[in-house]
Amino acid sequence: MANQDDTFKKVISHAKEYGYVFQSSEIYDGLSAVYDYAQNGAELKKNIRDYWWRAMVQMNENIVGIDAAIFMHPTTWKASGHVDAFNDPLIDNKDSKKRYRADVLIEDYCAKIEAKIEKEVKKAAKRFGDAFNKEEFLSTNGRVLGYQEKIKTILSRMAKSLEQEDLADVKALIEELEIADPLTGSKNWTDVKQFNLMFGTKLGASAESAMDLYLRPETAQGIFVNFLNVQKTSRLKIPFGIAQTGKAFRNEIVARQFIFRMREFEQMEMQFFIKPGTQGEWYEHWKAHRMKWHLSLGMGKENYRFHDHEKLAHYADAAADIEFKFPFGFKELEGIHSRTDFDLSQHEKHSGKKLQYFDPEENKSYVPYVLETSIGLDRMFLAVFSNALQEEALENGTTRTVLKLPSVLAPVKAAILPLVKKDGLPEVARKIVEELKWDFNIIYDEKDAVGRRYRRQDANGTPFCITVDHDTLKDNTVTIRHRDTMKQERVNIDDLRAIIKKEVDVRNWLMKMA
Ligand code: GAP
Repeated sequence: MANQDDTFKKVISHAKEYGYVFQSSEIYDGLSAVYDYAQNGAELKKNIRDYWWRAMVQMNENIVGIDAAIFMHPTTWKASGHVDAFNDPLIDNKDSKKRYRADVLIEDYCAKIEAKIEKEVKKAAKRFGDAFNKEEFLSTNGRVLGYQEKIKTILSRMAKSLEQEDLADVKALIEELEIADPLTGSKNWTDVKQFNLMFGTKLGASAESAMDLYLRPETAQGIFVNFLNVQKTSRLKIPFGIAQTGKAFRNEIVARQFIFRMREFEQMEMQFFIKPGTQGEWYEHWKAHRMKWHLSLGMGKENYRFHDHEKLAHYADAAADIEFKFPFGFKELEGIHSRTDFDLSQHEKHSGKKLQYFDPEENKSYVPYVLETSIGLDRMFLAVFSNALQEEALENGTTRTVLKLPSVLAPVKAAILPLVKKDGLPEVARKIVEELKWDFNIIYDEKDAVGRRYRRQDANGTPFCITVDHDTLKDNTVTIRHRDTMKQERVNIDDLRAIIKKEVDVRNWLMKMA
């Protein structure tokens, strides 16, 4: 555990030191669970958003993108079920006065049992050596099976109680499991209560005429209310999708994991409108397709897994998460939800307007079913950033800190470094910057010895360093150094554009999805 904590602390401090993420309003001691993206963070975030948009919108002729407003008519949230059901079950500790999410306390308890299973696996792997078969061990070892059964029983009881709004049973479960306040060890709990996560605000100048509004807790509803407008103006036929990226707001109670759980965050969502009855096949299609997108970034197949939901949201008939191995363990990164016709039917009911599609093949109108893919941009940022940050032991006995970001996402693609600040080298380096900046985000750096500049760019995640030296003046060549391998080669200045493009071009990365 201490190790995981250390890794996570390094991620947070590296993000600050290298201009990726700052605490919001830091000079006023910050605002809890709200963060600002700095000069490099804004670029990385934009590149992730673009990579998603290219894969979802540009590469699919039956998916279009929109940009709906954050403010929506308040009835939207009544119709969507968020006013009545977008709640977290909260519990207070009477001694410490700290507030927790009851379901998270229970899930954390199960994570501890999960850790025990991992320990058993490690022990057995050591004992059996090469002959060890993890899958067989997990499905036959008595102790492990007992642990698994215990987790299953606890989670399904919790899911059932939450679904039936039986909050007394959620409290009973916490007490039976003897779960204590993680900070103080006290087991003196209040009853469990529901707490709505939407932020309210007001529209209008005078107190009497002001209208109560919510800041949207998901971008999806902006897509649903525009479904027919988009369908009619684009003349798309079912199946088709509408994608959107944008801010969402939730008054999260447990918000302690940096940008993993924020109060203001960004989502990248796509609603895919389909014929009722076909949701099973589309669910499998989008699960597989989204996983391919993740794997195309080369962050390690072993760092992803699917998790099928036991407890379904009020709108879904099937749901799965794509989980990623964050520094604090496997956690939800993206959701794939089969939302049935819940949202469109609800909006029909509350608006009195028909939201139906005329299917020319079937010669009839119906409310389409919806398959949703929903990923948090900030969470994806954290996945990419934490996976990239590495301490590497070098042959000469030193270590280097390197941010091995997928080069397609790196904020700066190349740093141009004159070996010395004289003899005409800065002028040549500046000329290279002027030429390359039309295609790539490039920086110029002449401060410190070149070795230190390399290290600085490694820690910054810059895939290429290009050094201009005295030979450059004679033969128009430079040294290009690759961040991940530290290999250096001598190349002609005229070839730089093509070399960088080959490595960072979105096309070459997205082709890996094929
Ligand atoms: N429209 C469906 C929807 O909003 P969700 O599972 O509540 O579903 C989707 O959220 C994704 O949004 C999550 O998988 C996660 O990546 C991201 N997300 C949700 N709450 C978040 C928060 N408080 N901070 C950062 N990201 C969040």
